[in-house]
Amino acid sequence: MLTNDQLAQWDRESLFHPSTHLAQFSRGEAPQRIVTGGEGVYIEDRDGNRLLDAFAGLYCVNVGYGRTEIADAIAEQARELAYYHAYVGHGNEAAITLARMILDRAPEGMARVYFGLSGSDANETNIKLVWYYNNILGRPEKKKIISRWRGYHGSGLMTGSLTGLHLFHKKFDLPLSQVIHTEAPYYFRRPDTAMSEAQFTAHCVAELEALIEREGADTIAAFIGEPVLGTGGIVPPPAGYWEAIQEVLRRHDILLIADEVVTGFGRLGSMTGSKHYGLKPDLITIAKGLTSAYAPLSGSIIGERMWKVLEQGTDENGPIGHGWTYSAHPIGAAAGVANLKLVDSLGLVENAGTVGAYLNDRMAEALAEHPHVGEVRGEGMLCAVELVEDRGARRFFEPAGQKAGAVVAEMVRRGVVARAMPQGDIIGFAPPLCLTREEADRIVDVTADALRSAIG
Ligand SMILES: Cc1ncc(COP(=O)(O)O)c(C=O)c1O
Repeated sequence: MLTNDQLAQWDRESLFHPSTHLAQFSRGEAPQRIVTGGEGVYIEDRDGNRLLDAFAGLYCVNVGYGRTEIADAIAEQARELAYYHAYVGHGNEAAITLARMILDRAPEGMARVYFGLSGSDANETNIKLVWYYNNILGRPEKKKIISRWRGYHGSGLMTGSLTGLHLFHKKFDLPLSQVIHTEAPYYFRRPDTAMSEAQFTAHCVAELEALIEREGADTIAAFIGEPVLGTGGIVPPPAGYWEAIQEVLRRHDILLIADEVVTGFGRLGSMTGSKHYGLKPDLITIAKGLTSAYAPLSGSIIGERMWKVLEQGTDENGPIGHGWTYSAHPIGAAAGVANLKLVDSLGLVENAGTVGAYLNDRMAEALAEHPHVGEVRGEGMLCAVELVEDRGARRFFEPAGQKAGAVVAEMVRRGVVARAMPQGDIIGFAPPLCLTREEADRIVDVTADALRSAIG
C-alpha cells in the first residue's frame, strides 16, 4: 500500500495531466487532488474531503457517482465477452442494443450509429464522413467546415481546429486550413450593447452569410455547433438563432452537425438539444451522458440523407476505410445500456428540467444585486455566472480568468466544485442530473458566499 505522499510524488513525476500548467504541477505549485470515490453528487479525495461536484466531472457523470447498476453491467459484460471487434459485420448484443436505444431517443430522420471512445474522435469521424459524402456526390471542392468562435468540439488536430478557443490553438499550429470560424452566439458579449436579442441573432446570421459569400458556398461542406455553447461559456442561443441559421444552411446546401456531447441524454431537460431547439441535423455527436462516463464511449448518429450516400459510396468503392479497434466495445456499450435505463427509470430528463430551472432561478435571485455579476444564465441543468468589473459599462476584468479562478478556489474550500470556464471570468455549473433542490440550494449559497469573500 502506498503512502499518500508517495502517490502525490509519483503523480507529479509520472502522469501528464490534460489542461494543466505542466511546470507548476511538476514543481508542486499547482492544485493537486487525488480522487478516491464518489456517491450521488459527491466525490471524495484521499485527504478525506467530501465535495459536492457541481460540474459532474466534466459535465458527464449525469446519473451521479456510485451507481451499482452500471458497475454490475460492466462486470457482467467483462466476464461474458470483454471484447470483440465490430469490423466486417461483427457485432455484440450490447452495442446493437445500445444503437437501437440511441436511435429511439434521437430526433426523427436518423439512420445509424457509429461508436467511438471520445467526443473528439466522434467529431473526427463526422468530418471524415462529411468529406467522403461530398466526394461520392462528385463535389470534391465542397470541404470547408464552419465552426463558431467559443465552440468546443475536442482537442485533436481537426477537432482542436473546430474548437474556437485560443488556448487550444496556441503553439499547436491550429486551426487547420479547412476550418473557418464565425460569430459566437453569445448575446451578453454582443459587439454593441444597444442590440436587442433579435438584432443580435440577425447579426450572427449576417456574419454567417458574409462568410459563406466570401468563401463560396461550393467550398463549404458543413456547419458544426453545440445546441448550447458549453466550454466557451455555457451560453444558450439567442432567441430565433437556430431557426435562422438552419435556413441559411439549407439554402446553401451545407450540412449541419449538432455536437450534443454535453446536451445529449437529458442535460437541457429534453432528451436531446436538437429536440429542445428544433434542430434537424445531418450528424449528431454524442459522448459523456451516453454512459455517464462510467466507461469511455462516444457516437456519431448519422442521418438518412448522409447514410444513403455512404451506402452508395461503398457500392462504388468497396468497404469504407474507417474504423477504430475499440468501436462498439462491449464494455462501453453495456455501460451505455445500463445508464440509459437509469436515466429513464429515475426520470432524470425531467429532473434536469425542473431542478435545473430551480438552480438557475435561485442563482439569479441570490446574485441579482452583486456589483460584479454581469449575468446569470443557463438552460436545464446548466448554469453560468459571468463576472464583470463594471456592470453598467459591461467592462470585463483584465486579465481574464483570475477572478473566476479565485471564486472557484473559495468554493472548493467550502466543499463545492464548480468550473472556471476559459476565456473570461465565467463560473460554470453542470451538476449530475439527479441533483435535488437541497443540493441546488447548497451550490447557490456556497457560490454567493465564495463570491463575497473572493471579490467582495
Ligand atoms: C461539445 C463537446 N464536444 C466534444 C468534446 C470532446 O470530447 P472528449 O473530451 O471526450 O474528446 C467535448 C468535451 O468537453 C464537448 O464538450
